[in-house]
Amino acid sequence: MTVRLAVLLSGGGRTLQNFIDLIAAGKLDASIEVVIATNPLAGGIERAKRAGIACQIVDRRGWGSDEAFSEAITSVLDGYEIDLVLLAGFMRRYLFPERFTGRVLNIHPALLPRFGGKGMYGHRVHEAVIAAGETESGCSVHLADLDYDTGPVLVQKRVPVLPNDTPDTLADRVFAAECEAYPEAVRLMAARLGMASS
Ligand code: GAR
Repeated sequence: MTVRLAVLLSGGGRTLQNFIDLIAAGKLDASIEVVIATNPLAGGIERAKRAGIACQIVDRRGWGSDEAFSEAITSVLDGYEIDLVLLAGFMRRYLFPERFTGRVLNIHPALLPRFGGKGMYGHRVHEAVIAAGETESGCSVHLADLDYDTGPVLVQKRVPVLPNDTPDTLADRVFAAECEAYPEAVRLMAARLGMASS
């Protein structure tokens, strides 16, 4: 059975693009039912449109609280039949309803529980990893809870931190690992939910 996905994003949408490409290539038995962007300038919006995917903007700045913003997201999601909600470069807090527990996944560009938490996103993470003198980094896909970057880890992939790494070079290496880890986690969840997914 095809896994029906919703993708929530705030940025460039390379994570979304990876899913679009894998699905188009027949490498992942999934469909993206809707993309929700938290910012009208998010590059992911264009990617969704190009792929013919429904896309809605729920601009965080238009809502007074995380609660109201989250309810707006949930009401968009409720318009679709969704199996999994993927946070994909999603830089806001989504306080999802209890009925979504175990269905919301997040990807983080470090080996959680290290280098996670509020304010740790994108390049900040890689800067912190290099500043700490780590020799290894990676990415983590985990089930989201109502906090930042917590919740049980589903898949982790490790990459080396090289002596001459800059946040950019490390980010590229980690992102390549993300492109494998996230679909792997979706397949894992599909199996858990009793769906076959190639
Ligand atoms: C990815 O590296 C993802 O792990 C990270 O943002 C990037 C999104 O890229 N997410 C976080 O830092 C969340 N804490 P994209 O917008 O091009 O898909």
